Parts: sequence; structure tokens; C-alpha cells
Amino acid sequence: MIKNIFTIGICLLAAQPALQAQSSQDTPEQKAQIELGRRLFYDADLSINGTMSCATCHEQRKAFADGNQAHPGALDDPGKRNVPGLANIGAFKNLTWAHNRLSGLAEQSLMPMRGTEPVEMGMNGHEAEIGKRLGQNECYQKLFLRAFPNKKGSIDINTVSRALESFQKTFVSNQSLYDQMTEKGKPLPTQKAQRGKKLFFGAAKCNTCHRAPLFSDDDFHQVQPKNPKNEDRMRDNGLSDVTGNPKDKNLFRTPSLRNAALTAPYWHDGSAKTLADAIRKHDVNVHQTLNHQEIDELIAFIDALSDTTFVNNPKYAKPAKECPY
Ligand code: HEC
Ligand code: HEC
Repeated sequence: MIKNIFTIGICLLAAQPALQAQSSQDTPEQKAQIELGRRLFYDADLSINGTMSCATCHEQRKAFADGNQAHPGALDDPGKRNVPGLANIGAFKNLTWAHNRLSGLAEQSLMPMRGTEPVEMGMNGHEAEIGKRLGQNECYQKLFLRAFPNKKGSIDINTVSRALESFQKTFVSNQSLYDQMTEKGKPLPTQKAQRGKKLFFGAAKCNTCHRAPLFSDDDFHQVQPKNPKNEDRMRDNGLSDVTGNPKDKNLFRTPSLRNAALTAPYWHDGSAKTLADAIRKHDVNVHQTLNHQEIDELIAFIDALSDTTFVNNPKYAKPAKECPY
């Protein structure tokens, strides 16, 4: 019996490892890739007309979301989905709102650069332009050489996407009030947040999908009502658009709730303006019947998942203009 409980405990631990910052054991190449990726993340030369960087839509102060329902691309193609935050993005296997076939962050970064539905940075068919533009810059020449010595510092869309991946893997958010509670035994600051925590992990069962410590199970669910009043929203079929399997229709990946207080509006279509709207929008079978006070308590708990260290960390901010080398 005791052995069984022990085994279950180990399994749970194995399923969700603690969120950890990149180690100081990075090789010099990895360190250089992170530094390079940071510069690229803030560089509008990655867009067709030089108007849009990754950071245009992913703002650090908003936990790398942007505050709009959807963000139009560099050529004004209207955005389709809400910009998600990027906290702990390196811990996800499934990337974006509804995709299960991306090999990782490097492949994902090709979507904003080359995607056509919608056009975001507009580089489809202009990939070679990236190497040409960045190659003229002496600092980039040095950085690419340090980051990719085995590729002789080649500046192309593949090395660009790998550097972006290395930088984004450092986006670790694990210093919220919730983390101070679990790691240092500090109680949550208010009774309301404490009651919210109890509900979240207890009667309201939010934790079944928004599973700690990531506050996402990295899996797909349909939580919108089966017969929505707003048919327009249903034009986004979610996962089935990728897999072609009708069973995957309207499935979306559970978003992490870390820093959710900073990433309004919500849902894949940005249709929920506030956290209360976002919670109420789940099908009643998911949230049962939460009253006003319970929703307030859940929001107080979600507030305790905000991490000011993460949004103010100078490591993630726009780098100084001067070349570090
Ligand atoms: C025009 C706005 C815009 C720009 C520019 C943009 N993104 Fe995004 N990003 C989005 C949207 C919208 C999504 C959600 C896409 C979806 O679900 O289909 C997203 C999703 C992501 C995700 C997946 C997040 C998750 O929760 O799984 C990552 C990682 C990401 N973007 C990184 C980048 C990088 C790196 C760049 C620059 C090369 C970039 N983005 C440029 C809007 C943008
Ligand atoms: C069955 C799985 C499931 C359960 C249970 C669940 N959620 Fe969700 N939640 C999701 C999914 C999936 C989405 C994204 C929906 C979409 O965009 O289509 C979501 C979205 C959200 C969002 C919006 C986040 C964002 O960044 O857009 C919030 C806030 C939220 N849920 C809170 C809660 C709370 C609080 C509970 C408990 C009362 C809960 N959820 C229960 C799966 C679940």
C-alpha cells in the first residue's frame, strides 16, 4: 500500500517536472545563441517591410502577450488568433493554440516569419533577404560565428530560428507568490486567494487541465459550449485544421495561467475581455455553477500566479544597441 502511494507520487513528479531556469552549464555556443536570439527577437528586419519584430506582438511587460484581441501583420493582414504569452514556453511539447506537429520552438518561429494564414512578418518567398540584411551588419557576423561555429556562422532562416529557440527557452517564470508558497511555505497574501486556491485544486477542478506547475496539461480540450450562439467564432476549427481529423474539431490546447492577469484579452480568439469572462466562457460542464464570489476568489488565486521578476528581468529586455563583441 505504502509502496503504491510512493509509486504514484513518483509518477506525478515525473509527469510535471519543476520549472527550472537555464543552467549556468550552457556551452559558449549556447550562450552566444541566447544572446543572438535576443537581438533577433527585437529586430524588425525579420519582417518584409522592417516594421515588425517578434516583440511587436510579444511584449515582455505583458508576459510576452500584447493586449489586443488579435494583432494585424506587417502588411495589415488581420490577425486570426489572440497572441499568447510565452512564460515557460520551453516546457511545452505542443506549441500555439492548436497544433501538435511542430517539432519545437525553432520550427514554430518560421510560422510568424513565413506564415500566410494570416501573413504576420511576410517573409514567405523572401527568406534569402534575411541573410542579406543581417549579413551586412558586422555585429551579427560576429554573433552568428560565435553561436554557430560548426556552420561557419551561416546567416540564414534556419540559424535565425535556432537562435530564437535558444533565447525563448530561457523564458522561465517560477517566482510568483504561488511559487513562494510552494517552495518557501509562505502563505498566499489574502484569504480570498487562499480560498481561490482551494477551489482551483478542489471543487472547481481547474487543475485537471490547468495543471500545476505549468498550469497547463499541454493537451487539447473543447471547453466552449457545443452549441455556441456566436457561430462566427467557430470558423476556427482548432486542432482539426492541422490533423484533418473531424474528432479534433474545436479542440484547443489548455493555455497556461501563469501571468494570466497580465495577458488580457483571453481565449484563442481573444473574445473574453476579463479573467471573469474567460472563466465563465467554459462550458458549464467544465466550471459547473460557480457563483460571483467563487469566480472572484479564483481570480485572486490567478493573480498570485503573476511573476513581476519575469516581466522585469533585464535578460529578456531589448538589448543595448552596441555590439557586445
Ligand atoms: C503579428 C503578431 C505576431 C508576431 C510578429 C509574432 N507572433 Fe508569435 N504568436 C502570435 C500569435 C497570434 C500566436 C498564436 C498562433 C496560433 O495559435 O496559431 C503566436 C504564437 C507564438 C508561440 C507559441 C506560444 C504558445 O503558447 O504555444 C511562440 C513560441 C511565438 N509565437 C514566438 C514568436 C517569435 C519567435 C516571433 C518572431 C519570429 C513571433 N512569435 C512573432 C503573434 C505574433
Ligand atoms: C477541460 C479542461 C479545462 C478545465 C477543467 C478548465 N479549463 Fe480553463 N481553459 C481550457 C482551455 C482548453 C482553454 C482555452 C479555450 C479556447 O481558447 O478555446 C481555457 C482557457 C482558460 C482561461 C483563459 C486563458 C487565456 O490565456 O486565454 C482562463 C483564465 C481559464 N481557462 C481558467 C480556468 C479556471 C479558473 C478553471 C476552473 C474553474 C478552468 N479554467 C477549468 C481548459 C480547461
